[in-house]
Amino acid sequence: MHKVVLIKGDGIGPEIADAVVEILAAAQAPLEFVEHKAGLSCIEECPSGLPEETLDAIKEHGLALKGPTTTPIGTGHKSVNVTLRKKLDLYANVRPARTLPGVKTRFDNVDLIIVRENVEDTYAGVEHSQTPNVAQGLKLITRPGSMKIARYAFEMTKAIGRKTVTAYHKANIHKATDGLFLESFKQVASENSDVESNDILVDNACMQLVSRPEQFDVLVGPNLYGDILSDLCAGLVGGLGVAPGANIGDNCAVFEAVHGSAPDIAGKGLANPTALLQSAIMLLQHLGYTGIAELVNAAMIATMEAGIRTKDLGGEANTAEFTQAIVERIEAMKGEYSLDRSEAAQISVSTENITKDADVKVVGVDVFVRSNGMPQAPKTVGNLSLQMMSNRGTKVFPGPTPDGMLVDAFCCRYRTEQGDVSNEEISALINAISEAGLPWVHIEKLQTFDGEQAFSKAQGE
Ligand code: NAI
Repeated sequence: MHKVVLIKGDGIGPEIADAVVEILAAAQAPLEFVEHKAGLSCIEECPSGLPEETLDAIKEHGLALKGPTTTPIGTGHKSVNVTLRKKLDLYANVRPARTLPGVKTRFDNVDLIIVRENVEDTYAGVEHSQTPNVAQGLKLITRPGSMKIARYAFEMTKAIGRKTVTAYHKANIHKATDGLFLESFKQVASENSDVESNDILVDNACMQLVSRPEQFDVLVGPNLYGDILSDLCAGLVGGLGVAPGANIGDNCAVFEAVHGSAPDIAGKGLANPTALLQSAIMLLQHLGYTGIAELVNAAMIATMEAGIRTKDLGGEANTAEFTQAIVERIEAMKGEYSLDRSEAAQISVSTENITKDADVKVVGVDVFVRSNGMPQAPKTVGNLSLQMMSNRGTKVFPGPTPDGMLVDAFCCRYRTEQGDVSNEEISALINAISEAGLPWVHIEKLQTFDGEQAFSKAQGE
């Protein structure tokens, strides 16, 4: 028996959670549910909506099935889901999108899975306003983060018998960040030559997904694009109401429906448990109970094919009738599926060789300054000389000032021919810039790794 923390959640959460537990019991899934609270139901005692004991229970048992939780608006409360992801370092977000019988959509042949890095990218939340007019956010992509998510995607692909992994990215523009992701993906792909792999620019992926979605199998990539793509893909198969999701970490995994707590229909017997049920199917796959996962899935599909559907999908059945229909089909089909656990189907992600060393040299420094109009920055300070200035990423010095609008934050790039720049030289430069009446707001070293330039050029540099 595997202990699973069950968070029923708010609104329709308890109704769909009870339905799913009943269905899993009929399929003899070896799961023992341990109920814990999160969300609105415990916000009085615990303002975060996520009590420590719930978090501790997930850490102890390593698994959770979570119904939707209500996030009060305008009260400063954080989403329970976001808190769970951060506190448990759930680095992989997995969102299948699959056409279901009787769910009206433009396509009838979608069956893909988006695996998205869940912690890094612009979601690391490192943002600064450099001036009242200029805000900057850090797009943080790491080699270990990229290696792990790529390895997860390949391992998952093999475990559930999928064929092709496609990386989505924008490495043609984000050369350092998405470039690092793509490099990591290609390394992992070469470690998994038994799985087909390719990559696609994310803008093209959007176009292809809404015109020929059937060409995709498993997609993997950085956080922000993945967030957008997974909702786009939910739209391909009938919206968020039927979309399952999982958040996976090294030690814990949380399986949840993507939809919300639907307070408008709570307690009326109208809730559709399909999304949470599919999340539970993912949980069974995660544990290696492939046969039971297939059994529950087949019973769910057969029920929908028989026209037994909840109101949101145009059917007549209430939650209990829909649940009962699935249970009956499970009873009828049980003999056809293995209830055993398969070792091969369990996913494990290696953290070997996820970092790299290099010979690091500091060859200059970018100093970002606040200035109304072209800064009068010192031309040379010690061995450092002003090589160029840029505004909004476009070179504005030397040479003619471009026609575009200038904002009040400039980047002054200083380079040296004299090898490694020391901290003392950087301090002297900062002091000289300040003495020239330019408030500096941000500095960044210009480095090379094994002789390779590790920074971008400004447009026109
Ligand atoms: P929602 O997904 O709860 O509802 C949108 C519409 O879809 C409603 O008409 C609802 O009745 C319907 N719907 C959703 N799930 C359904 C189901 N399983 N069966 C039948 N109909 C269903 O989105 P909304 O209204 O924006 O959010 C309500 C609350 O849920 C908010 O407090 C929000 O913060 C929370 N929420 C929680 C999430 C989570 O815990 N994962 C995700 C999204 C929202």
